Amino acid sequence: MFLDLGSGNTRKPMHKVKKAIIPAAGLGTRFLPATKTVPKEMLTIVDAPIIFYVVEEAIRAGIEDIVLIQGRGKTAIEDFFDTSYELEDKLQKDGKIHLFERLVKIREMANIISVRQKQPLGLGHAVLCGEKVVGRDPFAVLLGDEIMVSRAGEPTTTEILASHFNSTQSSTVAVMQVSDQEVSKYGIADVIPLKESLFKVKGFIEKPKPHQTTSRWALPGRYVFTSEIFSLLKSSTPGVLGEIQLTDSMNELAKKADFFAATFSSERHDAGDKFGYLKANIEIGLRHPELQVELKNYLIQIAKKLEQQ
Ligand code: UTP
Repeated sequence: MFLDLGSGNTRKPMHKVKKAIIPAAGLGTRFLPATKTVPKEMLTIVDAPIIFYVVEEAIRAGIEDIVLIQGRGKTAIEDFFDTSYELEDKLQKDGKIHLFERLVKIREMANIISVRQKQPLGLGHAVLCGEKVVGRDPFAVLLGDEIMVSRAGEPTTTEILASHFNSTQSSTVAVMQVSDQEVSKYGIADVIPLKESLFKVKGFIEKPKPHQTTSRWALPGRYVFTSEIFSLLKSSTPGVLGEIQLTDSMNELAKKADFFAATFSSERHDAGDKFGYLKANIEIGLRHPELQVELKNYLIQIAKKLEQQ
């Protein structure tokens, strides 16, 4: 925390975003049967699980403590970020130093704190499960099944949000434009443009029908909040399926305090969805130095072959 000498002589405490909540306790029904025994956040994208890319994005944004919200049967996620003595020892003995170093880097990449969500009562409830660890600090939320692939030299989506929060001290979320047909799949932000990539948010609506809103700015799963969101989540009433919706509390917060939305340049993939998962694998594969040439040639070849059939 540092102090900003604001107008007059009032000293306003300025907070930086150093904590993140990663909800990863959902049932993953869109990915059954794979997710019957494997948490969807542990499904592999090229050679690392989905959750690795999400944690990596958080770290690049200056996050130091990660609160991982886990459900039943999800301990594999925690284990992935822990030490595997036997494996590390064997890799060292076999001289596979590159792989050994990669594993060490993963276990040292973040301070992971696991919190159990005892029932999957919705995203809002999952975020609320992190309250005890986050306390009164501002925090980021990164959905554990959404992958953002940023181009070299460009800020990650969470970096954009955290940096905007650090200068305004206001909740800021990522938004992306969607088509009329897609509106009902997302939380939608009602916004006023401020500059090219920044909006002031008037309100949010969860999965509206296209005629219920004129906005086409959807929430892709990256947020930075002030801790005020917790009290709103606590007093929110569960919806039809008994789920506590994050969007409802965000809507209330936007009515009470300044709330911003920012666009981003990363490619976003919903890896909890079959097609999004395949796209993420293809994109990350095409960016992988060992795979890119072979994969690109294969994709061109298979597409041509299928066209001729
Ligand atoms: P999703 O709605 O995509 O996850 O939530 P889900 O419920 O697992 O998906 P399907 O529809 O059944 O396939 C987005 C993120 O929020 C987490 C999920 O793990 C996912 O990373 N989540 C969702 C929780 O942690 N708890 C919940 O109660 C719901």
